[in-house]
Amino acid sequence: MSYNWINAKDYTMNSFLLFDRWALQWIFSDCNVYDWFPGKDRDYKLDMAKALYRYPHVAWYVRNKAPECAAFLDEIQSITFGDWTEEEMRESEAAILQAHETFVVYAFPKVMNEVNYIRNWDEKYLYELVDLKDKLVLDVGSGTGRLAFAAAKKAKRVYASEPCDCLREYMRDKIKAEGIGNVRVLDGEVLNLPYEDDTFDVVMSGHVIGDHYEEEIAETARITKDGGWLVICDGDDEFRRSAPDPELVSRGFEWFRHESAEGGIIYNYRKQVKKYEE
Ligand SMILES: C[S@@+](CC[C@H](N)C(=O)[O-])C[C@H]1O[C@@H](n2cnc3c(N)ncnc32)[C@H](O)[C@@H]1O
Repeated sequence: MSYNWINAKDYTMNSFLLFDRWALQWIFSDCNVYDWFPGKDRDYKLDMAKALYRYPHVAWYVRNKAPECAAFLDEIQSITFGDWTEEEMRESEAAILQAHETFVVYAFPKVMNEVNYIRNWDEKYLYELVDLKDKLVLDVGSGTGRLAFAAAKKAKRVYASEPCDCLREYMRDKIKAEGIGNVRVLDGEVLNLPYEDDTFDVVMSGHVIGDHYEEEIAETARITKDGGWLVICDGDDEFRRSAPDPELVSRGFEWFRHESAEGGIIYNYRKQVKKYEE
């Protein structure tokens, strides 16, 4: 299945020219993305070879932006041209772009703002989780700033941390256009956040924690003050979840449940950080 956030046929491999190094590292690896995206019966490397055939400048960009992808690219580019038709190559291009639609939307923030979990989200779901008044807040993996800009309406200052350059620029443009004075945008990766211990009153995120629960929670707790809050506030999609995330529950997160405007069952979470338990 695919989220169908984009119609891949509307995009080309030139989109890759907007991707950051960390995204290219994932894409040009044995990422198994076809196991859960549409190409179940397709060959990822063959599709990539066909997709890149008409875009040698994209291969050049990847080699130079992310030199660690060279071995994977060598393998792809050693696949010999098999009299592929234009139609076949376009089909492979669409399969690759659809499989990596998350990265495609990161490169086109206005499109990202219209995806299911962002477009109809209501800020009240953040406000019911945590008191933000006059607080120093970090949003990890801000995206287009769904949580950061909502928090900024109440908080003293919000740091929007985002590893994708296109999204950082999108948020900076919005701050400038709307004269938002209390949001600062920075680079940052959830496992290695560039802040001192005990810095923030609230560290929040949406759709970021989950690949490495233990390490991600430890790193976000490290930079949260004693008595501060970790908040996980996802967007409002249409998926009807039947239970809260057991990984978060087992680590002591309280959960909140609501039915979203998109028809989904959404769980949000919070946990107070206690550093000096008696
Ligand atoms: C699904 S989007 C969610 C965006 C936003 N938090 C929201 O809920 O509207 C995931 C975001 O996390 C960022 N991201 C991806 N890997 C990350 C990592 N390792 N550390 C921090 N952010 C990451 C992406 O660039 C993207 O903006």
